[in-house]
Amino acid sequence: MSRLSVNVDHVATVRQARLSNEPDPVIAAGLAEIAGADGITVHLREDRRHIQDRDLYILRKTVKVRLNLEMAATKEMFEKALEVKPDMVTLVPEKRQELTTEGGLDVKTNLDHLKRFVPMLMDAGIAVNLFVDLSLESVKACHRIGSTGIELHTGRYAEAKKEDEIEAELKRIQDSAILSKRLGLKTHAGHGLDYANVSKVAAIREIDEFAIGFSIIARSIYAGIPEAVKEMKRLIVSSRPL
Ligand code: PXP
Repeated sequence: MSRLSVNVDHVATVRQARLSNEPDPVIAAGLAEIAGADGITVHLREDRRHIQDRDLYILRKTVKVRLNLEMAATKEMFEKALEVKPDMVTLVPEKRQELTTEGGLDVKTNLDHLKRFVPMLMDAGIAVNLFVDLSLESVKACHRIGSTGIELHTGRYAEAKKEDEIEAELKRIQDSAILSKRLGLKTHAGHGLDYANVSKVAAIREIDEFAIGFSIIARSIYAGIPEAVKEMKRLIVSSRPL
């Protein structure tokens, strides 16, 4: 599979810069969907720095593809998820000072909490993915927790500059993806993926879905959302092994 979930957080970042009502992530999501996005992702952060509760409520009513809510594993967000019922939740760690989600969830330290938290969401009919750093241990921990799937953190790959570092990171992504698939987990990947670096990750057949935000929204300022989404989707599809 070669699905693309488009994260529209940064449309809201521009809106919040002026506390205005435009640009609207709801309209952006509609355009992304028409252009071929297989899913829409939003991260409702504790500090509401970009996506607002209002966005999530309206998106739940308007998005026809899969709506993925990124959120921290807190009581407040649990209640929000149960109220809105996104198709999927991706649990991420959250720090107030960070510019974006920096690392994956520490699944080992939070094992007991996640073992209770994840089934409560899944019992409500919501698929749950855990966003983790690359390690076989993390993949096994997700399997033990019983989540629907995993999202592999591609940030280190995206930041690597030297060829050998890039290749080493790709191998780590691939090893985690192979194990994840073998354990029956839905396998997603994301963070820092852009038009220049997505192809090598998209060539890993075990990855079912790619979660991409910043690069698409950045390009859409010049090219428009439909063009930016179509080009990313084209790159993903054309890189997939037969
Ligand atoms: N996946 C997760 C779990 C994220 O937190 C983010 C950033 O919000 C992304 C994917 C998308 O990353 P980027 O905006 O760098 O494409």
